Amino acid sequence: MSPDLFAGTTVLVTGASSGIGAAFSDLLAPTGARLVLTARDPNRLERVAAGARAQGAPVDIVVSDLANPGAVEGLLRALDTRGVVVDHLINNAGVGAQGRGAEVPVDHQLRVLDVNVRVATELALRVLPGMVERRRGGILNVASTAAFQGLPGLSVYAATKAYLLTWSEALHHELRGTGVRCSCLCPGPVDTRFFASADMARPAAAFGMQTPGVVARAGLRAYRRNASHGMSGPMPRAGAWLTRLAPRALSVRVAAGYARPGSAR
Ligand SMILES: NC(=O)c1ccc[n+]([C@@H]2O[C@H](COP(=O)([O-])OP(=O)(O)OC[C@H]3O[C@@H](n4cnc5c(N)ncnc54)[C@H](OP(=O)(O)O)[C@@H]3O)[C@@H](O)[C@H]2O)c1
Repeated sequence: MSPDLFAGTTVLVTGASSGIGAAFSDLLAPTGARLVLTARDPNRLERVAAGARAQGAPVDIVVSDLANPGAVEGLLRALDTRGVVVDHLINNAGVGAQGRGAEVPVDHQLRVLDVNVRVATELALRVLPGMVERRRGGILNVASTAAFQGLPGLSVYAATKAYLLTWSEALHHELRGTGVRCSCLCPGPVDTRFFASADMARPAAAFGMQTPGVVARAGLRAYRRNASHGMSGPMPRAGAWLTRLAPRALSVRVAAGYARPGSAR
């Protein structure tokens, strides 16, 4: 049997303190990889790290608010100081800001853009040349089914996910023959802190909520196959296809029921 793709490599997971990022950590821990986990909350991060260490994985944690200017540079400098070379990057950290574009404070919306787009892009572009030189490793970007149409009430969020999807598709193509891979995971609703953090009500059951473990597993499956996209099951896949077939204005009208204000934090 050939060794696991991740065995003997180093995997950097952003947004690893909860939800899908923590599930990536759990699934990668038994593969023989060294894990580097980053997020803002040191306590949650330490709990996730302890779970991975209990499965035998060497784990580094770096506490960082990636929305801060210069955060990516700081993160990579911290890794360099520890002699860590990133083989696989899982660009998972992401935030939303529920509300109408004209009403949500501009700085909240710009933070969504910064974390979901600028940080993911900068991190990938800074580690990619080394991966290409070593002819191994790659990038797994976590987008969303929100990427497939405009999403009223989460407009900037959906646009950031559309960016991640089209950017990943192009990178995937550019990297052919280099030994380096790029995949993009597009989950539907997942049972995490995301909704509370975005001040959004949990979506209705009809949207088909999934667990972080199921979603992270689908992401790693797509990445191992070097597929350009990974969907986390028949429901998100069908949703994405219907969206492509329907007139764009209709898709947006249907999606408008998704992002409703919530209070739980
Ligand atoms: N839940 C869903 O329905 C759903 C659906 C499709 C796609 N996604 C995507 O899945 C990814 C993971 O989200 P999730 O659902 O697992 O939600 P989550 O539990 O809220 O996880 C988000 C992660 O991002 C980190 N993060 C947020 N802001 C950050 C910042 N400024 N700097 C550093 N880290 C930051 C959070 O950690 P700290 O708070 O500790 O910083 C946390 O670890 C996101 O990209 C999200 O857009 C989620």
